[in-house]
Amino acid sequence: MKSWATFSPIGVFDSGVGGLSVLREIRRQLPAEDLLFVADQAHVPYGPRSLSQVRDFSREITNYLLSRGARLIVVACNTASAAALRYLREAFPETPFVGMEPAIKPAAEGTRSGIVGVLATPATFQGELYNSVVERFARGVTVLTDTCDGLVAQIERGELDTPETRRILEKALRPMVEHGVDSVVLGCTHYPFVIPLIEEIAGPEVEVIDPAPAVARQVGRVLDSRGLRKPESTLGAVQYLTTGDHAKLSALLPRLIGESGQVERLYWEGCKLLDTIAKVSP
Ligand code: DGL
Repeated sequence: MKSWATFSPIGVFDSGVGGLSVLREIRRQLPAEDLLFVADQAHVPYGPRSLSQVRDFSREITNYLLSRGARLIVVACNTASAAALRYLREAFPETPFVGMEPAIKPAAEGTRSGIVGVLATPATFQGELYNSVVERFARGVTVLTDTCDGLVAQIERGELDTPETRRILEKALRPMVEHGVDSVVLGCTHYPFVIPLIEEIAGPEVEVIDPAPAVARQVGRVLDSRGLRKPESTLGAVQYLTTGDHAKLSALLPRLIGESGQVERLYWEGCKLLDTIAKVSP
């Protein structure tokens, strides 16, 4: 592990394990980059919360990542992007941000039936970002939506293929398939971890669109445009942090991203995010 002093990472954050679906893709495409991942599992799920509360969490996590030397921040959470991306860009004008937006553009461009599905959280559907993407890219296309209530919690528990996870996805996807969707957009970064189940339920005619590869490409472009990309000679380090149960996250990592890693704890004290690594024994 690199020393804290020389660690100059890309910061990546989410409410929980969802951001790991984006981190995994950044790691695949940009293996030399050091990554610092924050999962705000003390507050997961973000989806049913108010946009202003999610914005407050996002601002403080950004402050924390910057204090740890982050040179670019990936908001690896559709809900936080809906609630806070524009605000973060204004509040931290020196910092490059890459966020998530529902991949409605490729779905609308590729549809043959003229009907596409989107799975995302309630807050994402409420945000301006979602409405502007639909307005800009999905004119003339019917967009069916579902909030998959309870699915984020299932994935947080590592229940990637249990009867309850299946029930939630069947309830969301069956009506979409009956209406003739030919693509389903994953508008929440947790959902790529249940792609096998989604594909099984939706059937082979339905394309499942995960935006993570496009987001990782955008990270590469932003690094290049600012001359921030690391030379490809070394493999970057990854540090995982959670405001929740670090042992549980550590146990889940290999199943979710095929790599193990040490996870440290972070602590919310009021609206401040504190790094107590030096003071708290594991
Ligand atoms: N992974 C997140 C997203 O992309 C947040 C899910 C949640 O916390 O509700 O929206």
